[in-house]
Amino acid sequence: MSTTFQLDTSTSRANPTPKPMKRLTVPKIRAHKANGETGEPLVMLTAYTARQAQLLDAHCDILLVGDSLAQVIYGLPTTIPVTLDMMANHAAAVVRGSFHSVVVVDMPFGSYEQSPQQAFESATYLLKQSGAAAVKLEGGEQMAETVAFLNQRGIPVMGHVGLTPQAVNVLGGYAARGRSDAEAKKIVGDARALDDAGVFAIVLEGVLEPIAIEATGAVSCPTIGIGASAQCDGQVLVTEDMLGMFDRVPRFVKKYEDIAAVIEKTVAQYAEEVRARSFPTPDQTYQPKG
Ligand code: KIV
Repeated sequence: MSTTFQLDTSTSRANPTPKPMKRLTVPKIRAHKANGETGEPLVMLTAYTARQAQLLDAHCDILLVGDSLAQVIYGLPTTIPVTLDMMANHAAAVVRGSFHSVVVVDMPFGSYEQSPQQAFESATYLLKQSGAAAVKLEGGEQMAETVAFLNQRGIPVMGHVGLTPQAVNVLGGYAARGRSDAEAKKIVGDARALDDAGVFAIVLEGVLEPIAIEATGAVSCPTIGIGASAQCDGQVLVTEDMLGMFDRVPRFVKKYEDIAAVIEKTVAQYAEEVRARSFPTPDQTYQPKG
């Protein structure tokens, strides 16, 4: 699937960046950390739509088509119901809307855990349908064999350890992980196992800061923190959370804006003008010529 296209009609809103840029690659992301050192941290945000991707692309290194779209886009209570087709469709939109960032797509719950072969089938479907460059999957040591299997067959994998939302029914909620010594040891061990298996980066989600720092020091690939530590090799947030689309967000989210308030105010004004027949005005209507 081509990521560059021209759609030049007077009504199209789909125009991408006029001058296609050279896209970052997975090896370039991996090489960000060399000999245990990362210069400038990697910038990753979630994206689910083409227009969102267009707005984020120039500022990011990685756009993650996260299965958090379950809650953010579809109003679902967890990520469990997400399907391969939901991920493939949103990932294709994000690829079409971006030219610079590496696009990574989440493998949904149930599409990869059974065997490396199942994971390969699901991952190839996602990459073929969307044009994304890599997949992300949740889990530590138990997924190492699958990571190596995919990697050796041309599919780059980003890992995800600590708080893994697809395991909500086992974990019993979304609380930070690593409060016991055993859990802390397991998180660092999971990160190590994924690193040895060949992931190009690892998301560390919802872990106590000392564990994030220890895991970052323990692996050769970049770590990308969310509710982790500024000492990770990069950071990710759910874009709608940091823009202020939701009232309730996890503690680790910094709300950079209050977009929900902007939308409320704007829509209230529109509704008022429609009801008062003050919209549309002659500026927004067509009149016969001559
Ligand atoms: O699904 C998602 O958005 C994620 C990020 C929060 C890392 O996995």
